[in-house]
Amino acid sequence: MRVAFYERIFLSLSALVLVAFLVALFFASFALNIHLPSPAGHVEPGRLAQTPPFDRPGLRQTGPGQYEVVMIGQIWSFLPNEVRVPTGATVTFVATSRDVVHGLHVDRTNVNLMLIPGQVARARTTFRERGEYLFLCHEYCGVGHHLMYGRVIVE
Ligand code: CUA
Repeated sequence: MRVAFYERIFLSLSALVLVAFLVALFFASFALNIHLPSPAGHVEPGRLAQTPPFDRPGLRQTGPGQYEVVMIGQIWSFLPNEVRVPTGATVTFVATSRDVVHGLHVDRTNVNLMLIPGQVARARTTFRERGEYLFLCHEYCGVGHHLMYGRVIVE
C-alpha cells in the first residue's frame, strides 16, 4: 500500500497530538495529582437540622482573617443569604442541599459548586476587594430558581 506524502504528514501529526494529550493526562493525574473534585463529606439531607455543622448555618470566624460559611441550598433560597466579612478575608464555603440539586456560584470568585442532596461541597476564596458579591443558584431547580440568590458583603 502506498501512502501519499501529505497523508503521511497528517497521520503523523494526528498520532503526535494523541500522544501529547495522553502524556498531558498522565502528567496531570500522577505528577501534579490533579483529580476530579470529590465530595467533602456526606450527610442525610432530611436530618440537616440535627447534623453539625448544618444545624447552625451561618458565618463563623476560624482564625485571624479566616472564616467559614456553613450554607444550605433549598427551594428557593440560600441559608444564610447574606454574609458580611472584612476586606481580605479568606472564606471557606461548606454547603449542601436540603432537597434537590442546586448550584452555588459566587460572582468574581473561584467558588462554583454543585449542591447535591447528601453530599457536602467545599470551596475557599479570598475577598481582596470590598464591595458586594452576588451569589446565585446555577442549576435549574424549579419555578423559583431565579429567586435563589444572595450576597457576600465585603466591608
Ligand atoms: Cu436552586 Cu436553581
